[in-house]
Amino acid sequence: MSRVFVFGQYFFILAPLLSTDEVMRAIIPVAGIGSRLRPHTYTVPKVLLNVGGKPIIGHIMDRILENGFDEATIVIGYLGEKIKDYILRNYPMRVDFVEQEERLGLGHAIYLSRHTISRDPILIILGDTVFDVDLKSLVAQNESVIGVKEVDDPRRFGVAELTNGYISKLVEKPEEPKSKLAVVGIYYIRQPQMLVESLKEIVKRNVRTKGEFQLTDALQLMIERGEKMKPFTINGWYDCGKPETLLETNRHLLASVATPEPRKDVVVIPPVFISPKATVKNSVIGPFATVAEEATVENSIIRNTIVSEGAEVSDALLEDSIVGSNARVRGSYKRINIGDSSELEFY
Ligand code: UTP
Repeated sequence: MSRVFVFGQYFFILAPLLSTDEVMRAIIPVAGIGSRLRPHTYTVPKVLLNVGGKPIIGHIMDRILENGFDEATIVIGYLGEKIKDYILRNYPMRVDFVEQEERLGLGHAIYLSRHTISRDPILIILGDTVFDVDLKSLVAQNESVIGVKEVDDPRRFGVAELTNGYISKLVEKPEEPKSKLAVVGIYYIRQPQMLVESLKEIVKRNVRTKGEFQLTDALQLMIERGEKMKPFTINGWYDCGKPETLLETNRHLLASVATPEPRKDVVVIPPVFISPKATVKNSVIGPFATVAEEATVENSIIRNTIVSEGAEVSDALLEDSIVGSNARVRGSYKRINIGDSSELEFY
């Protein structure tokens, strides 16, 4: 963006001297406890769980960097030091960490980040969701944009109602939704100071929905104050909040992972991710298996499964499974002596 200064009849364009290009900042809230992913989240924060070969938040940070973001705010809380350590080791960009001690909701997480928010637009993106979205076209919009997707039952989401192509109302987890457009967790805010004011207000007035300060409620306040917000359809939206959705996201991400180098006595059925630092012997891996760094898989068949960092799997047949970091799974081979025309099933 250039600035024009007018002095009497002279004017100067200061573009090359004083560049006022907008700084692109992403805000990523990751303070939650991830209760639906216990027992994994007892020791590893949800966003560090491995999916498709790297931690969930790694996929998000990669997208942000690829799309030219300069700065990020990461709201940490539960097991936050581990997240901070991972980000600082892997992402050499400006990152501000904000501590949310009490998990009082997404709106509260953004409210606590307010000192990192300038007048430049911000992107808010949930730390436990992988989006397949063209971020460049999203941030090229002149108005605020809310990522939405049509779902059959939107009652557990924020819901967007539209009028003439704009969002006329946002309601958090309505009992009787008036539309099927679910708010999926990606928001581009052109007037972030207006959002900060709205958040301050809902915190001051103690406006809570389902006990939490909701981002949806602050955005609704912005709409009431005249802010224009457009829906942006997100088709590729991969939640990592529950075991089934984590495995589904793993399947999706593996589709774009290169087939690993062949290893002796290992049969690979793509798509799979096998870390070069994993040990795999005498096994069949795939389809849809992730074997993370320092993991060991021996004499096993694994499919649609995530074997996390440092885990050990031996003599096992695994399907639709998540093996946590440093966990051990030891199976056994069956001994049978079965006669003709018999039927035997193992569950
Ligand atoms: P979720 O609603 O999925 O909560 O938050 P959670 O704690 O991660 O998981 P469950 O429900 O206990 O299984 C969506 C995103 O918003 C962040 C979470 O860390 C997650 O990335 N969040 C949520 C916060 O940072 N602070 C909050 O107060 C609430």
